[in-house]
Amino acid sequence: MIKVLFVCLGNICRSPMAEAMFRHKVKEAGLEHKIEVDSAGTGDWHIGKPPHHGTQDVLNNYQIDYTGMHARQIIPIDEQNFDYIIAMDDSNVSNIQAIFNNPKSEIKKMLEFAVKSYESSDVPDPYYTGNFEEVYEMLDDSCDQLLKYIREQKEI
Ligand code: 4NP
Repeated sequence: MIKVLFVCLGNICRSPMAEAMFRHKVKEAGLEHKIEVDSAGTGDWHIGKPPHHGTQDVLNNYQIDYTGMHARQIIPIDEQNFDYIIAMDDSNVSNIQAIFNNPKSEIKKMLEFAVKSYESSDVPDPYYTGNFEEVYEMLDDSCDQLLKYIREQKEI
């Protein structure tokens, strides 16, 4: 299995949205038996909670399944288990680097994959901005390109 981990701060807004959207695209491509998707937060405040209602609203709107998803915190062993670790912003990258010694994968930022250009290379945190739709648009673009990238790299 090729394993992809999306990481944000709380694992209730951005990374669960990315997880659900990316899994949806993987399924549409018929690759669910080849690519496994997960998400985690660097913080521990929301462990066990379902996605934020703003993330749920957007996912419901686009009919993207998030059944059974609950927040978890990133753990050191994750560095060995994932082929792709995709962070939402620079602070996520620093926090991940602080707990990983020797990651199996390069840590990338989500918007590195985006075709459209945005003001910043960080996915803005809708926990503070309240703009979940903007995040959906950014993730939709980036997830498409990330899937293309993985398919090319792994020849699937
Ligand atoms: P996320 O958003 O990192 O996209 O899940 C946040 C969720 C919760 C908090 C911060 C960001 N918080 O401080 O509780």
